[in-house]
Amino acid sequence: MCGIIGSVGILNHYKNVINGLKRLEYRGYDSSGVSYLVNHDIKMIKVPLMVENLIKQVRPFISENAIGHTRWATHGKISKENTHPFISFHGLFSLVHNGTIDNYLNLKEELIENGYQLEGETDSEVVVNYLEYLYLENFDLLKSLNLLDQKLKGSYSLVVIFRENSNLYFLKNQTSLLICKEKNGYLISSDLYAFNKSKINYFELQDHQYGFINQNECCVYLNNQVQNVLFSQITIDIEPLDQINCYLEKEIFECPKVLEYEINHYINNNQVIIDEEIIDKLKKASKITIIGCGTSYHAGLTFKRFSLHPNIEVKLASEFIYEKNIFDNNEVFIVLSQSGETLDIIRSLDKVNDYFTIGITNNKESRIARMVKKHLDIMVKKEISVASTKAYFGEVVLLYLLNAKINNSSLNDIQELPKNLNFVLNQSSKIKDIAKNVSKYSSLYFLGKGIDYDACKECSLKLKEITYIHSEAIPLGELKHGPLALINEKFPVIIIHSLPEFNKVIDLAKNEIKSRKGNIFQFELFKNNQLDFLLQVLFGDLLSLYVGRILNVNIDKPKNLAKSVTVE
Ligand code: F6R
Repeated sequence: MCGIIGSVGILNHYKNVINGLKRLEYRGYDSSGVSYLVNHDIKMIKVPLMVENLIKQVRPFISENAIGHTRWATHGKISKENTHPFISFHGLFSLVHNGTIDNYLNLKEELIENGYQLEGETDSEVVVNYLEYLYLENFDLLKSLNLLDQKLKGSYSLVVIFRENSNLYFLKNQTSLLICKEKNGYLISSDLYAFNKSKINYFELQDHQYGFINQNECCVYLNNQVQNVLFSQITIDIEPLDQINCYLEKEIFECPKVLEYEINHYINNNQVIIDEEIIDKLKKASKITIIGCGTSYHAGLTFKRFSLHPNIEVKLASEFIYEKNIFDNNEVFIVLSQSGETLDIIRSLDKVNDYFTIGITNNKESRIARMVKKHLDIMVKKEISVASTKAYFGEVVLLYLLNAKINNSSLNDIQELPKNLNFVLNQSSKIKDIAKNVSKYSSLYFLGKGIDYDACKECSLKLKEITYIHSEAIPLGELKHGPLALINEKFPVIIIHSLPEFNKVIDLAKNEIKSRKGNIFQFELFKNNQLDFLLQVLFGDLLSLYVGRILNVNIDKPKNLAKSVTVE
């Protein structure tokens, strides 16, 4: 999690680091900080708050380099002492770190035995001090970085300022670290997006590589050997900073357009165009396992509803990793991940490395896209709001298309989806009225049957995450087996219902709820389309957005969360 950025050379380091941090904030926003070098003096400003608060405290500066960090807390509470950057005990180094160090407590003990005093609880503070400790033994910084790499267990991208020169030093293992070439210097970050431009000349570091950058050079080493550094050109989609007030709203409202693009990309002449090897493997698979986390897991559930394959399992990655399984050679694994960087999915892929794996992501440059045998891109454009919306739809669309191709079924329903989603968006005032009522409660159920129950799970996650209202998804038939006990005038139910075949049981459930004085909310919309449940999910997304507005919460950056979950 966390985002890191560095800038070196004859560049506007203030602007590069501040804009980079704004771009990186979706990776974590518990605290933020910057550090820079002016004439052998390391300066540092940090706050246990979001980047907008940091910006108020950092005056534009002129310096030889700069580093910045935005944190999603893993080790230690949210406090100034635990905020990056960290300056080493003897003041030689300032460091930002992304990742987690498994053996930091042992290293900390060693440092304390050697007279080091540490202020906070983080693994990252241990790393900067350990680097200094190694350096003071050999006075060779590159050698010290190599030794540090051998000593650390875990994941780490490090960018370091050294008091004695204006280089920026780096080391990378298991989490992304990219270098961007500028005219008079270099930028370095955990994310291409942080370079704040669309045409990027970049180099991606490999595990255990370390080195330095300055105005003219980019020197990379692996085990004391100089590495070849070849920069590649990439063009990414990037919106101007500070133009969007609410990314969640923007991303919900662009659903019809981006999905239409995705559908048109994969359908040609009324035929689904997907790599034949994928289709062949899926057709012959003895078992298909779908793996995801959170919203992507909810998208995965729908595959089982559409598919005619007799042996499908949908798994939460965090559970799958620890299961004791015996696989056969004809099994196929589909992983779903919007970001393509979720660690639980990466660990799941490690487990099934010898089998046929298909990755569905919104990021073709991501680690997951590179790990799988075949990658399919949902192409819904970058999602910034922490709560995932358009990516959920993009994933469901791809799963639907895979099934349609396998079963040679009609594409009419999927082709109508963008138009139908627009229909929901046009009814936002109706949904705002429901939101006014829902915002008065502190807990509620989403109730649905069949694929609508899968939709309930997604609606419930969105409501919790965006509004902090507690909710639970209940399968309709289970209501009277326990959940009904909670229903009263203070505990309402939102019905998610898109399947007319269940009208009768829905009516029965409504009566049972009303008899217990429970309030019922429902967004009624039937288009007689297999994908009508998605219209209910879109209603759920809008509902959460509008309730969030009423409750005046930070919609794009919910408390305690981050967009890409790269820790276990
Ligand atoms: C919820 C949400 C999360 C993610 C989950 C997986 O709105 O965004 O539940 O869906 O963290 O992330 P990806 O899809 O990037 O693997």
